[in-house]
Amino acid sequence: MTVQESSAAVPAAVRATDHHNQPERVEVGKRRTHILIALLMAWSSLTAFAAEPAGEQAPDTMQARVLACAACHGARGEGTDNDYFPRLAGKPAGYLYNQLLAFRDGRRKYPPMNYLLAYLPDAYLHRIADYFTAERPPFLPPATPGVDKQTLALGQTLVTRGDPARKIPACASCHGGALTGMEPAIPGLLGLHADYLSAQLGAWRYGTRKAAAPDCMQMVATRLGERDITAVAAWLASQQAPADPSPAAAGSLKMPLACGSVPH
Ligand code: HEC
Ligand code: HEC
Repeated sequence: MTVQESSAAVPAAVRATDHHNQPERVEVGKRRTHILIALLMAWSSLTAFAAEPAGEQAPDTMQARVLACAACHGARGEGTDNDYFPRLAGKPAGYLYNQLLAFRDGRRKYPPMNYLLAYLPDAYLHRIADYFTAERPPFLPPATPGVDKQTLALGQTLVTRGDPARKIPACASCHGGALTGMEPAIPGLLGLHADYLSAQLGAWRYGTRKAAAPDCMQMVATRLGERDITAVAAWLASQQAPADPSPAAAGSLKMPLACGSVPH
């Protein structure tokens, strides 16, 4: 597949969202078809690339290949307006790699991503992770919080200080004071939509997202109630990202719980 072909799939999927005045059902159907086409092209370009011997890659760069991911994650992994499609750029490579493995091997479930990554070799997933880690696109603007003041204040307290009485550690104790994460395997929490954040915390509570044992995020998430989740998601999504979104250095934070996905 050529570069032109694979990039053509992306604007098609994006264009479908512009037809606001069409009936809802047609709109959703069209968008699904376009995303499906984008996915099929993504899949064939990815598998072809993985099989290619080194040295035959120009002009098929990694950048051209990951255009396949752009319909949902943005051209440089900056995220899109869609409430469930996360930013990838700048997250630690170890974290991104763990997620790609989790989707490939079914520990994290989202069918389009499970299909896209099925059968891709570990080495190729490493290269994809390295690509998005190095990108520094601007953040999407922070959201206007859709919750009342008390809920927002609860979110800020839980993120920055936790709630010792309920054994909830501060999110910042692992995700960093600037919430940009820590190398090599803890992600930043800014630049994500509130709906994405609450869906992830819910997935840990209900067991549909799992990380390596001991799964510290599962322990944290099961100590949070529905209102806590709404609160932290709304507060995080409303924060301006710092000028330098680089994760904190490995080992620079004293984590309150052990996490199996973080090497030590
Ligand atoms: C059809 C839309 C779609 C496409 C195409 C897609 N993704 Fe995703 N991706 C998602 C969604 C939605 C999630 C979150 C799923 C969930 O709820 O766990 C996700 C999650 C991820 C995550 C985890 C992010 C995090 O912060 O935990 C990574 C990494 C990722 N995708 C990489 C890729 C790569 C690389 C490609 C291209 C090869 C790609 N995705 C293509 C929709 C997509
Ligand atoms: C003990 C350390 C620790 C604490 C405390 C902690 N986290 Fe995490 N968090 C992690 C690790 C490690 C991961 C990566 C897990 C994986 O590999 O899937 C993670 C991942 C996440 C993710 C997934 C991000 C994405 O892009 O999909 C969210 C959301 C999250 N944490 C929210 C929180 C919130 C909210 C709090 C506070 C209530 C919190 N975390 C407290 C260690 C921690």
